[in-house]
Amino acid sequence: MINIIGLGPGEFDYITKMGEKLIYSSDILIGGKRNLESIENFSGEKIVLGNNLKEILDFIKNNLHKNISVIASGDPSIYGIGKYLSNNIEHENLNIVSGISSLQYIFSKIFVDMNDVYITSSHGKIPDFDYILSHKKVCMVTDSKIGPHEICREIQKRNLDKIVVVGENLSYANERITIGKPKDILSVDKFDMNVVVILDEK
Ligand SMILES: C[S@@+](CC[C@H](N)C(=O)[O-])C[C@H]1O[C@@H](n2cnc3c(N)ncnc32)[C@H](O)[C@@H]1O
Repeated sequence: MINIIGLGPGEFDYITKMGEKLIYSSDILIGGKRNLESIENFSGEKIVLGNNLKEILDFIKNNLHKNISVIASGDPSIYGIGKYLSNNIEHENLNIVSGISSLQYIFSKIFVDMNDVYITSSHGKIPDFDYILSHKKVCMVTDSKIGPHEICREIQKRNLDKIVVVGENLSYANERITIGKPKDILSVDKFDMNVVVILDEK
């Protein structure tokens, strides 16, 4: 069986009991370097997932009889490896265990419900900001090209009344949550790994 296990936002305490149990009963663990390092005292084999996605897929397909867990940050079904593996491996061989997404985590920290939230990402694409900013409640996973500053400039260009929340390094000791109008966010020099929530001003 191939498990795809969400580790939660980062700090290991956020993993589900089921995820932890399946990880430690696996023969092989596959994941990004940072995620693999977070799994201590694992006695099986660890394989690093990087730019070798196709190779990893072939390896998994040739080893379906083994107990393999692919670990992913947050929830694997939210801008994670869940989609690729679900599209390429027979579902009877797959078991996805949800984790707490960084998106869910930030909403609980700011006491805002996730009802009707529009979820999107800036990873590897040019976002359609007219469409994105037409929503009352947005959560965006970001990359190094399009992050909080670029988002705030797009809001200012359109003269919209929005509140922006930037959640950095969520669940880690250096977590930082910044809330403000676009001009406040633009006054912050630099942000680490982050998710951005954009809300209509009430
Ligand atoms: C490929 S996506 C994976 C999202 C993940 N599946 C989830 O549910 O959280 C990676 C992006 O998620 C966001 N992210 C993941 N973990 C984070 C954390 N602990 N703090 C802030 N942002 C995080 C960042 O925007 C990062 O660039």
